[in-house]
This record gives sequence, structure tokens and C-alpha cells, in this order.
Amino acid sequence: MERAIGDLSRLPPIVTSWEIEALKDQIALAQRGDAFVLQGGDCAETFDECTSENIVAKLKILLQMSLVMLHGLKKPVVRVGRMAGQYAKPRSADTETRDGVSLPSFRGDLVNRSAFTPADRIPDPQLILRGYERAALTLNFVRSLIDGGFADLHHPENWDLDWVGHSKTADRYHEIVRSISDSLDFLESILGRAVHQTQRADIYAAHEGLHLSYEQAQTRYLDHRKRWYDLTTHFPWIGMRTAQIDGAHVEYFRGISNPMGIKIGPGMTVEWLQNLIRVLNPNNEPGRISLIHRFGATAIEDGLPPLIKAVRETGSPVLWVCDPMHGNTESTADGTKTRRFDKIVAELEAAHDVHQSMGSYLGGIHLELTGENVTECTGGARGLTDGDLARTYKSTVDPRLNYEQAMEVAMRLSGLGKNLD
Ligand code: PEP
Ligand code: CO
Repeated sequence: MERAIGDLSRLPPIVTSWEIEALKDQIALAQRGDAFVLQGGDCAETFDECTSENIVAKLKILLQMSLVMLHGLKKPVVRVGRMAGQYAKPRSADTETRDGVSLPSFRGDLVNRSAFTPADRIPDPQLILRGYERAALTLNFVRSLIDGGFADLHHPENWDLDWVGHSKTADRYHEIVRSISDSLDFLESILGRAVHQTQRADIYAAHEGLHLSYEQAQTRYLDHRKRWYDLTTHFPWIGMRTAQIDGAHVEYFRGISNPMGIKIGPGMTVEWLQNLIRVLNPNNEPGRISLIHRFGATAIEDGLPPLIKAVRETGSPVLWVCDPMHGNTESTADGTKTRRFDKIVAELEAAHDVHQSMGSYLGGIHLELTGENVTECTGGARGLTDGDLARTYKSTVDPRLNYEQAMEVAMRLSGLGKNLD
């Protein structure tokens, strides 16, 4: 392990402090209600899925969602991928048992391998180097696609929108799509060039900062800024399982200058949250803290208000982000993990209403999604059922929204506050 960490610490960083500070500024804008943050990507990226098609599909869904949201919310949308480093997973059980055989749990490609054999489940330190390489390859390709314009995004023929016709609100959705395409055409005709050439579509990277050896090996003190930065990603977040005030993760996050997320949900107390904010943002720096709440559709209305009040008492600005996925995971009769589209939307709507009623601002959304046509979550315009799940279920951990479901969430979100049912 020592050797792998030593090797990793000598390699160049994946991101720069300029990009990190630019994201912090954008998050500060969103905290004030002047922008909206879209975070999305896999629950767990895998080394095998680091392919051209997957990266293109993920970029496409994030960009298309952000156009829909920009149109509906009339605010800049800051895009943050759960990508280029989302390789380590917290697990609730240390072991996994199949047919009477128990083995150590799979903890993500950065730690061990998913195949169910004793050898594959032994942690392999070399995997942190393989993860670093995959993260760098992913971000390198994303940057090249963006610099090259990732052209013609706005032409409706490049949008896979057949599903819109299956929706109860098909007319409204068609109108959104038509109106986006008209606005882009209009802009291009006055600018005399393609919109993508005039506005760089930045995408930032985020992952759970779980594997401290990996993060630490790429953490540097930058003389020109006189501060420490985690240079594996722009935006690391702390999961609730590792957010103990006196724990190693909080100690690490306290020392870096990146903007950071904290996942909060049932079990997070007022005192705990206030302490986290005091420790992680002692100077009330704008842009620094995003609170990603994940209560579940049935718990949010009771769970969220006391925390909004508690945060206000700290004086720290925060960005409130709704993760409508992790509180709504359930198992089907045959034990397949899934999430129901209606519950995801219900939590999102409840989040919007709670924040609005308390004079607070819901400034972001955090989703597990993929640009592919998987069948992992049920519902949505096509009405996927439990019986459809077996068809294309690829996730190694949590179920993700597919392309159509993710676009539908973006459209719902754009209509929030406008009585779109
Ligand atoms: C995740 O984001 O994949 C995750 C494990 O979330 P949480 O910590 O909110 O359960
Ligand atoms: Co997950």
C-alpha cells in the first residue's frame, strides 16, 4: 500500500486549483439563488465501463438535462458529474453471503473486485493507481469533447425523445423541447455562430471522498494560494456513514480548500450538523458547503425543516441540494434493488415546497443516472415495472435513472412551482 500511495503522490493532479475555485464561485452563486447545480452520474463507476460510448452518453445526458433546466428555471445551471473517481463505496455490511458462502463485501473498483471469489475480494493497493488512471482518462476525454464543441447538441434529432409521447404531460414536454430549440436557433442567428462555440459547457467532477489514502496522495499545498487542495476532484463529498465529528474523514476535509458536499438524512441531528458546519466552514466561506439531503419521500417533510433552521443559526451560507435517490431505495419481491420514479419526483417536489415555505432555496439536485437505456428504476413515462428490471440491470450497487427517466426528472424540475403534474 505504501508503495502505491507513494507512486500516486508523485503523479500529476487530475484537476487544478483554478478549476476548483471557479466551481466554488459558482456554488456561491447558487447559494444566493442565482444558479442551480445539477450533480449526476453512476452510483459506482467501474473500470470496465470507462469507455468512449459511456462517457459520451453521460456527457450528453448531463448537457441535455442542463439545457432543459436552464430553460425552465431561467438560471445558469452548474454541471457536476459523479464521475472520474466515483470508485469507492461505503457498505452497510462487511460481508456478503451467497449460497451459504460469506466473503468480504465489494467496496468499489478502487479497493477490490466485484466477482464473488475469495481472491477477487482481497483489497489490492494497485487498484488506486488503476483508478487514478481511469479518472484521468475520463476527464481528459470529457475536456476534449467539450473543447471540440460536442456539436449539434441542440438539434432535436440528436435528442432521444420518443418517450415524451408516452407521458401524461406529452404536450407540455413537446412545448419545452420546441421552445428550447427555437431559443437556440434564435441565439445562433443573432450571434452568427453555434452556441457551443460561444459558451463553454464546463463540467466539474465529484465523488465521495471515502478512500482517504487515495485522496491524501493527491492532496497538495499550493504555495501560490497558501492552502491545501484535494486534486483528485473538484468536489468531494462526505457520506453520512463517515461524517463523525471526531472521525478521520472530517479531519481530512477540514484541511482542504475544495468546495464539499455533506450527505444528510434521517439520523442527522441538529447538534451534529451545526458542529459539522462549524468545523468544516469556520470562516463562513461562501461556496464551501453543500448539504445534500436524502430523506426519502415519506420522511423529508418532518426531517428537513429542523435542519434548515439549525443551519441558519450557524451563519454559514450553504447550498441545499436534494438527492431524491438514496432515501427511496427498495427491494422487489425477488430481492432486486430498485427505486420508483414517482417517489423520486415526490421527494423532489416536497424538497422544493419545504424550502420555499421556510424562505430557503433549493439550489441543486443530486441524481444517480446513466445515459444508457438501462432498466434499474421503475416508473417514468414508459411505465417500467418490476418485471422489466431483469432486462438491462447493470449497476453493481444502486439503481440509476436511465436516459429517458433522467430527462423526465429534468422536465419535472423545470416545471416545479408551475403546477406541472
Ligand atoms: C451514494 O451517494 O452512492 C451513497 C452511498 O449515498 P449515501 O451516503 O447518501 O447513502
Ligand atoms: Co448510491
